[in-house]
Amino acid sequence: MAQAEHTPPEGAAADWTIPQDWDRYTPQEHALWDHLFARQAAMLPGRVVPEFMAGLDILRMTRPGIPDFAELSERLMKATGWQVVAVPGLVPDHVFFDHLANRRFVAGRFIRTPEQIDYLEEPDVFHDVFGHVPLLAHPAFADYMQAYGEGGLRAGGLGAIERLARLYWYTVEFGLIRQEDGGLRLYGAGIVSSYGESIFALDDPSPNRLGFDLRRLMRTRYRIDDYQQTYFVIDSFEDLLRQTVETDFAPIYAELGQEADFDTATVVAEDRIYNCGTQAYARAKEGLT
Ligand code: PHE
Ligand code: CO
Repeated sequence: MAQAEHTPPEGAAADWTIPQDWDRYTPQEHALWDHLFARQAAMLPGRVVPEFMAGLDILRMTRPGIPDFAELSERLMKATGWQVVAVPGLVPDHVFFDHLANRRFVAGRFIRTPEQIDYLEEPDVFHDVFGHVPLLAHPAFADYMQAYGEGGLRAGGLGAIERLARLYWYTVEFGLIRQEDGGLRLYGAGIVSSYGESIFALDDPSPNRLGFDLRRLMRTRYRIDDYQQTYFVIDSFEDLLRQTVETDFAPIYAELGQEADFDTATVVAEDRIYNCGTQAYARAKEGLT
């Protein structure tokens, strides 16, 4: 998400947006997008929530090459009233929230290098556009993202951005969703844009998979350096929207100020457990370092 200097860099507008300069992508950059796209598109059906695949289709994202944000925005505008705008990198929290509150999704325009194919720290155009944009064509998810932006502007004044950031992390970036047949699917952008985590998050015995609980989730720390040790499972996008929009977060922020955080791997008695993780993956890694 956010965090950066407080004035936009040279060449950026007051709202931190920059032109995508689509004509400047090289054939190699388009080819890298196509490679990443093909790898995920082959693996995701059966793993990702069907609404994600529908979004790729509605937005014609299955065509080759890095999408032109103007064209993408035109289709997205018709579907749910959203747009995609380019920014130079991470932007300050209030700028990020303000764009979301106005149904503008900010995306990086650069693409990773071939060496960074499986891991990079800053979100690039593949993560931001392939990962985040398809679900913006889904009405309930689109409304959730806007409400999140409004909630962010409010959280700023309440000193609660970190709590709210956890909600974004465990839903928009790393969320899982239950299907009617009881099976779990992926929807978080951080998962679906990662080949390794698309398998790990769903199939590996290592991580916890716990039912979504707003207060519990806001108390849970997260990892930015590796696969998650805990994923939270929502029942539906409509339910996520309802629970977050119909709850006033101000008293929760105040209440949680008194309570200790949960570690990234903790499971407690009240959790609705889909999988109580072995944490074997994280332990093996610790042993190696
Ligand atoms: N209901 C939240 C509040 O009172 C706002 C919000 C809605 C936050 C949806 C996130 C998602 O601040
Ligand atoms: Co992201």
